[in-house]
Amino acid sequence: MNKIAITGKGGVGKTTIAAVLSILFSKEKKVIAVDADPDSNLAASIGFPESEKIIPISEMKDLINKRTEYKNGFFKMNPKVEDIPEKFCPEYKNIRLINMGVMKKGGSGCFCPENAFIKTLVGHLIIQRDEVLIMDMPAGIENLSRGTASGVDAVSIVVEPDIKSIETASRIEKLCKDLKIKKVFAIGNKVTNKNDENYIVDNIKGIEILGFICYDSNFRNFRGAISDDNISLINQIDKIKSKLGGLR
Ligand SMILES: Nc1ncnc2c1ncn2[C@@H]1O[C@H](COP(=O)(O)OP(=O)(O)OP(=O)(O)O)[C@@H](O)[C@H]1O
Ligand SMILES: [Mg+2]
Repeated sequence: MNKIAITGKGGVGKTTIAAVLSILFSKEKKVIAVDADPDSNLAASIGFPESEKIIPISEMKDLINKRTEYKNGFFKMNPKVEDIPEKFCPEYKNIRLINMGVMKKGGSGCFCPENAFIKTLVGHLIIQRDEVLIMDMPAGIENLSRGTASGVDAVSIVVEPDIKSIETASRIEKLCKDLKIKKVFAIGNKVTNKNDENYIVDNIKGIEILGFICYDSNFRNFRGAISDDNISLINQIDKIKSKLGGLR
């Protein structure tokens, strides 16, 4: 499994887990970290220098118009994108960061040059590239339902020991089935004891659980870059990574 989307309800720990997985995989292989959340903070969590200066793809208007040959309301649905990661996206310690930016909303999926460009790019990264790909999804199901992560090997749904995040997980799992995503897993985050783990096991029926991550009071409200100070968290996520890496 090397193309993995991380999803789940708001605030459950998606970005934290996506950042740590990216860092861990990057020690062995090249990684493409895709920030699919318009409220982006994956680059900062990984520790990209000057992460606030990274320009999201959706804001590269001239490039998008040129590549989609946008004219008089017409544009190409399959623009050239192969060179975009290397030419326009920053790399840091073996991790290439793709900040998608804002996908426009619209009735039955908005047809506009930005969305066509981003969809083609993400499709290219998922289907045609060898790197490990970790995609940090926005909260909830809307982005997933627009097919942004179609083609990934696995969707990992992060849950906390509470019914709301587990209900969201069930909706996401159903959607993944509709989208024909091959593997759907759950990751239990912020567990404080065995009861919390059992609560997740008992309520998340039908979704294979990859592992649990303890609630870490030092990590609460953490907004910086993951570092060796977070070693306990990193070690727990490393176990989850080993499972993902071993699953074929
Ligand atoms: N295991 C944990 N123990 C304690 N706090 C945690 C843990 N995992 C994540 N957090 C905290 O929970 C908050 C949300 O984490 P994070 O930003 O990774 O979640 P998210 O699912 O990406 O959120 P959003 O839906 O806003 O994108 C952060 O303040 C983070 O420090
Ligand atoms: Mg996030």
